[in-house]
Amino acid sequence: MKILILNGPNLNLLGKREPEIYGSTTFEQYFEELKRKYPQVELEYFQSNHEGALLDKIHEVGFLYQGIIFNAGAYTHTSVALADAIAAVKSPVVEVHISNVHAREEFRHKSYMSKVCKGVIAGLGLKGYELALHYLMGI
Ligand code: DQA
Repeated sequence: MKILILNGPNLNLLGKREPEIYGSTTFEQYFEELKRKYPQVELEYFQSNHEGALLDKIHEVGFLYQGIIFNAGAYTHTSVALADAIAAVKSPVVEVHISNVHAREEFRHKSYMSKVCKGVIAGLGLKGYELALHYLMGI
């Protein structure tokens, strides 16, 4: 089973970026932990600050992998193109946000992704990625 974890803009700064909101663990550390915990899954991680690169990655794996766990960062609130890509591919996509976007600024309440995703996890920190993985693994 192949699952892609896809992170959008500024999520390369996890660990350094506003730790009071996003925590102090880097995603690379967390990803190593996930791979150790779930050796039965072929987990891949890709991060980009560029909308086009995220689109290309969704197109590349979206007909091959069993799922995509996607934190689109700020593109969540702006990108029709990423929502269209999610709708276009076959792989189920789970939307994840580390912070509780609904408890934050108004502009973060709107997601272009949610309508085309299987489900949404927000506000549970990095744990949200693992919970999305459980869903995709069927456990
Ligand atoms: C985020 C929430 C977004 O509003 C923000 O732009 C991010 C991270 C989260 O994981 O909580 O970059 O997606």
